Amino acid sequence: MDGDFMDEEVLLRRYALVGGPDDMIPRLRRVAQAVRDDRVVAEEARREAFALFEKNPPENIEKWTTVPSTALGDDIGAFNMMVALACVPQVAETHRRFDLPPEHLALTFSWFRPMIGLYRRRHGGVPGITHTRTFWFRKHADGLLFRFGCMEFLKGPVPNYLPADFRAQLSPEDEVPTFHFPGGPGGLDEDAIKRSFAEAVAFWKRAFGHYPKAFACDSWLFNEHWPELIPDTRIARSIDLYDRLPSLAYNPDEPSGLFFVYCRERCDPRDYPVTNSLERAYVTLYTRGIQPCDGCAWVKVDDDGTVRFRS
Ligand SMILES: CC(C)(COP(=O)(O)OP(=O)(O)OC[C@H]1O[C@@H](n2cnc3c(N)ncnc32)[C@H](O)[C@@H]1OP(=O)(O)O)[C@@H](O)C(=O)NCCC(=O)NCCS
Repeated sequence: MDGDFMDEEVLLRRYALVGGPDDMIPRLRRVAQAVRDDRVVAEEARREAFALFEKNPPENIEKWTTVPSTALGDDIGAFNMMVALACVPQVAETHRRFDLPPEHLALTFSWFRPMIGLYRRRHGGVPGITHTRTFWFRKHADGLLFRFGCMEFLKGPVPNYLPADFRAQLSPEDEVPTFHFPGGPGGLDEDAIKRSFAEAVAFWKRAFGHYPKAFACDSWLFNEHWPELIPDTRIARSIDLYDRLPSLAYNPDEPSGLFFVYCRERCDPRDYPVTNSLERAYVTLYTRGIQPCDGCAWVKVDDDGTVRFRS
């Protein structure tokens, strides 16, 4: 997997890890050609890869002006894919360090498959990814984020969004990793979720010598309005597995869930066609003047590593 991330062969080999759609391949080839032909495009790719995967601390490049779209046209999403794949050797090295099997690399990079689907849906059928979420992979490279089954788990201290009475039972050095859903079909299957947690606790014990005290998550999936607005969905039901708190404060920089539904960090759902119950729910929230907020969920872990789901 080594070699320059902009080299066409290297790029296509790395894209195979994603297992993404074939119609991305001609676009990746054109991007590799554009890099060879145009110094500005090549410099931008190196600048972004450096900021994301080498600089300490890394930069979130969300607000950067990236390559002028005229240089790449609608291949810009493929350019973003190329930059994201620059971290493959670092992630592979981290997996070796943690004794994770080689197939863990493809599982980890399959994260991009739903991202490509989301981008395609909001970009007239064109495959690609945005450059705004690639920062997430630095955490894989740094040995902080790990994929197990259908979920990811991020190392970290006790999150401040947990209720005070629960935090009072923990000491400051206790670990409460956060849990995340990469998504895609079947991404909220209950059995798969439980298997992922079981793998995560076993890994934590082996890799870090202790079980976490709990796992926590603040997410758009746990919006307190979903049980009313989309009652019979996996999204609304998935919250039943966890202890929870109602929605957290509205974050104007990242209105809850918009990216994962509209592929835009900020937008007004009323500007988009309504094609399913979730999009209708977002329109209802905005029509009622309700700002979408994350909800918070957590599960405690016993001293023997048993994860205490609510159901
Ligand atoms: C999390 C995820 C797997 C849930 O999808 P799911 O299993 O289809 O969920 P549900 O079955 O409960 O879907 C309920 C409705 O919402 C729609 N829906 C679900 N996720 C959607 C999304 N990201 N964008 C648009 N619509 C979506 C479904 O099509 C369904 O519509 P319908 O009731 O009219 O048939 C999916 O949203 C996803 O892949 N998200 C990307 C990753 C993500 O958001 N992770 C959480 C970050 S913390």
